[in-house]
Amino acid sequence: MSAGIIPPEFIRSEKEQPAITTFHGYIPQVPTIDLSDPDEEKLTRLIVEASSEWGMFQIVNHGIPSDVISNLQKVGKEFFELPQEEKELYAKSPDSKSIQGYGSKLQKEVEGKKAWVDHLFHNIWPPPAIDYQFWPKKPPTYRAANEEYAKWLQGVADKLFGRLSLGLGLGEGTLKESVGGDELLYLLKINYYPPCPRPDLALGVVAHTDMSAITILIPNEVQGLQVFRDDHWFDVKYISNALVIHVGDQLEILSNGKYKAVLHRTTVNKEKTRMSWPVFLEPPSDQVVGPLPQLVNEENPARYKTKKYSDYVYCKLNKIPQ
Ligand code: OGA
Ligand code: NI
Repeated sequence: MSAGIIPPEFIRSEKEQPAITTFHGYIPQVPTIDLSDPDEEKLTRLIVEASSEWGMFQIVNHGIPSDVISNLQKVGKEFFELPQEEKELYAKSPDSKSIQGYGSKLQKEVEGKKAWVDHLFHNIWPPPAIDYQFWPKKPPTYRAANEEYAKWLQGVADKLFGRLSLGLGLGEGTLKESVGGDELLYLLKINYYPPCPRPDLALGVVAHTDMSAITILIPNEVQGLQVFRDDHWFDVKYISNALVIHVGDQLEILSNGKYKAVLHRTTVNKEKTRMSWPVFLEPPSDQVVGPLPQLVNEENPARYKTKKYSDYVYCKLNKIPQ
């Protein structure tokens, strides 16, 4: 075991400790899908299979230029390397209802174990949802780099929603409309996982499924994302310039369970800083989401409740059954 000391509130139970619960041996990989494949039917089939079996896949040749991605990573890293006081300028106020802003593991936790990660949340699309107060002013290129990424990401998101709709036997625009159409919210989170003296005992983000419809994530090169399948935790291998796609709760609900929200978590590293940039594609808060009526009949009854997205979020955050 690695030597080192961390405060007890970071030490996970034996059921959670990565050193005990990570699977070694033959490791099946989440599928990698080439989004530029001209065989449209094959592409749809691969996306549908991955979303039904894993709830997660990586996409390559997605069309977002690599410098757009590296710029996004560069400005995010520069922000997190600023002195703590500079970052605290964007801190979430404890009484704020908004999720936007900076949060640190140094801050007081309400209950339970702490996660070895700092983060920054802010919306990046659509324009009416953007509040630049939460966008770092340092480095000065932060804004342009994030706006550029948001612009490119929409093409990828539309393509994914289109394929996933076809896979349900529905028109290409159905899913996107069901999550708010042009009001679909792009919420960026930056995760910053500093080196941890006891990566065998602590966790980054704990096991969860995302509340979003879809999450599109860029990691840095430090290994850490794990996915749960067949009772085991598996590492998701890092592929340079790939986007990691997660099926979130809202897509599982809309598809009445055909697509599976993926259970995932992150581990931390003894020497290296890990970072990641998930964008949660979420319905607007008053959007009503439930199993699509076209998919429900007497043989296939609705397996989930229909409710406003804000009510879903409230229950999930407060651990109230949906
Ligand atoms: C998250 C998350 C994974 C990662 O922030 O919801 O799952 O790779 N992050 O950092
Ligand atoms: Ni997540």
